[in-house]
Amino acid sequence: EYIENIYEKIGGEETISKLVNAFYGNVAKHPDLIPIFPDDLTEVANRQFKFLTQFFGGPLLYSMEYGHPMLRARHIPFPITPKRAEAWLSCMHDAMDKIGLEGPIREHMFQRLTQVAYHMVNQPPEND
Ligand code: HEM
Repeated sequence: EYIENIYEKIGGEETISKLVNAFYGNVAKHPDLIPIFPDDLTEVANRQFKFLTQFFGGPLLYSMEYGHPMLRARHIPFPITPKRAEAWLSCMHDAMDKIGLEGPIREHMFQRLTQVAYHMVNQPPEND
């Protein structure tokens, strides 16, 4: 099945917003992620909301405000090992469960996020 516009299909702003909230609720409790995230996740959650909106085919909110995402470059200051990429993905997987995002569209979204997550890895496994 060709997925035309994920953003529209999953319910747009409301669904992305719920996903981001559930996701950072999980990040805040994940022992592997707490050390590299700020205590106050409000700003990063706002940026992620804008990024995921455009990543999944909605309005280009992130780029209009911050320019080209250059996500790998923006993550360089933070040590991201393969274990942290897995932790990020597990928080996302659980967030999708929590908001009831299911089916082929969810699998497709998760696959795309998995590619991005492993692309963010900037430390070898022995630094875990
Ligand atoms: C920012 C960690 C993967 C999107 C950040 C920040 C951290 C982080 C620590 C900065 C928080 C701060 O401002 O202090 C991680 C880790 C990942 C990961 C450990 C594991 C692979 C991803 C993925 C995406 C993403 C897969 C997108 C699908 C973003 C965005 C920002 C951000 C949009 C804000 C960038 C900015 O405008 O400065 N991430 N991230 N991250 N992350 Fe990630």
